[in-house]
Amino acid sequence: MADMGDIDLIRQRISDLLGSQGCLSAEEQRQPYEKGARYGDGQASCIARPASVEEAAELMRLCAREKIRIVAQGANTGLVGAASPDRSGLDVVLSMERIKGVIDIDPVDRVVQAYAGTRLSDLNQALKQHDLYFPIDLAADPSLGGMLAANTGGARLIRYGDVRHNVLGLEALLIDPPGQRLDLTNRLRKNNTGPDWKQCFIGSGGAYGIITRAVLQVHPLPQQCATALVVPASLQAAALLLRDAERNFSDFLSAFEGISHNAMQSVLQHIPSIQAPFDPLPPYAFLIELSSARPRSADFDLEKLFGAWLEAGFGDLILDAVIDKPEILWRIRHAITDSVRREGKVIAFDIAVPRSKLATFRDEAIALLERRYPGVKVFDFGHWGDGGLHFNLVVPQQLVDDFPPQRIHTLRQEIYDLAVRKYHGSFSAEHGVGPFNQQFYERYTAPESLALAARMQTVFDPAQLLGVTRFGSPFDSAA
Ligand code: LAC
Ligand code: ZN
Repeated sequence: MADMGDIDLIRQRISDLLGSQGCLSAEEQRQPYEKGARYGDGQASCIARPASVEEAAELMRLCAREKIRIVAQGANTGLVGAASPDRSGLDVVLSMERIKGVIDIDPVDRVVQAYAGTRLSDLNQALKQHDLYFPIDLAADPSLGGMLAANTGGARLIRYGDVRHNVLGLEALLIDPPGQRLDLTNRLRKNNTGPDWKQCFIGSGGAYGIITRAVLQVHPLPQQCATALVVPASLQAAALLLRDAERNFSDFLSAFEGISHNAMQSVLQHIPSIQAPFDPLPPYAFLIELSSARPRSADFDLEKLFGAWLEAGFGDLILDAVIDKPEILWRIRHAITDSVRREGKVIAFDIAVPRSKLATFRDEAIALLERRYPGVKVFDFGHWGDGGLHFNLVVPQQLVDDFPPQRIHTLRQEIYDLAVRKYHGSFSAEHGVGPFNQQFYERYTAPESLALAARMQTVFDPAQLLGVTRFGSPFDSAA
């Protein structure tokens, strides 16, 4: 492996290869790429910004020759530290931000091809001209390569699935042989001709190759949308409410998002321009969205259908509801993470359990906290339509000293044990695996799977030069 003595030489070689725009090595230039959105806080030798796939391949050849580890990074919005360098100061961050742009859109096939560095917002801007969109909704603006590598979920998973469900093909660069292009840019919806190799790169956090292009199936842009915040008769009744909504609206149901009292109160407190939808605030509310690509008309009006359904459910399933403009209600939902961050020390979770068990799991997790960690406050919210729960906790400022890292680790593990072992859930529902949660990946993954992943590691990356996540062998870095 490269060591500190080689750094100046390596920077020079990368700069010779990619030009001064393509190699950032001054500390203040590196910093924005070294720190992740939530976790990951390391130091890179430099930030390599190739301008083309061919330049990226050249960089990989250089790094493989010099045994330098490469950490691919898109828009740096990931939440598990998978795109951040470790603390050794030796990693090269390969930023994909210059390899961007939509390559082609085929409205008849409903297929788009774009480079990995393309931002979700830019993709959707281009698709809008064809009344199409890529429906992964996140409170961030990631790049496509990162979205594929993390297999992001988001708030409309209930209708459109996660990223994986929408990828038809991709191109990746391998590290062995170094810089080799693997063209898997399939454009067909059905193509059942052997193992689906692109899946090796989706959701694997850059561990097996670097995604450079994506071919996606896209969807008709909704022409009408109806949203409401709905208070269920009880949290246990939320699953019945969901079932009833699915029965009534089938494909029109595009989001079913839960917001706890504390999460909503935090948004209202920190963002004064948002008005309280209820007074007093209920223990839990659900942001329910219906949408359709068929325009509103007198005989097809989702808002009217929604209103009638809400009325029919009143008393039995529903205690209260407000129908409002989508942008107003989604603003509350998207502001939660940032508002809760201002409450104190956040312990964030990205859990999933079978959606029928969400309320029971939540009750049990809260009881566990009250017993073992009194004083910690629960600000949960999440994707109740698909079983996803951001069971985010806040340690109030005055208790922070009682929660050193080891105690937080134990708390985390107890919650994960409950979710994964008792409820057959997931410790990482949609944010993927990275250094932040690699130890939990190892704890909850079957030994046979770990062993298989170790064999995969030797196929894709025998010298361990790609990324900071290891699926089959202990993470052996200075992080
Ligand atoms: C959300 C992110 C944190 O759902 O996954 O807001
Ligand atoms: Zn989420």
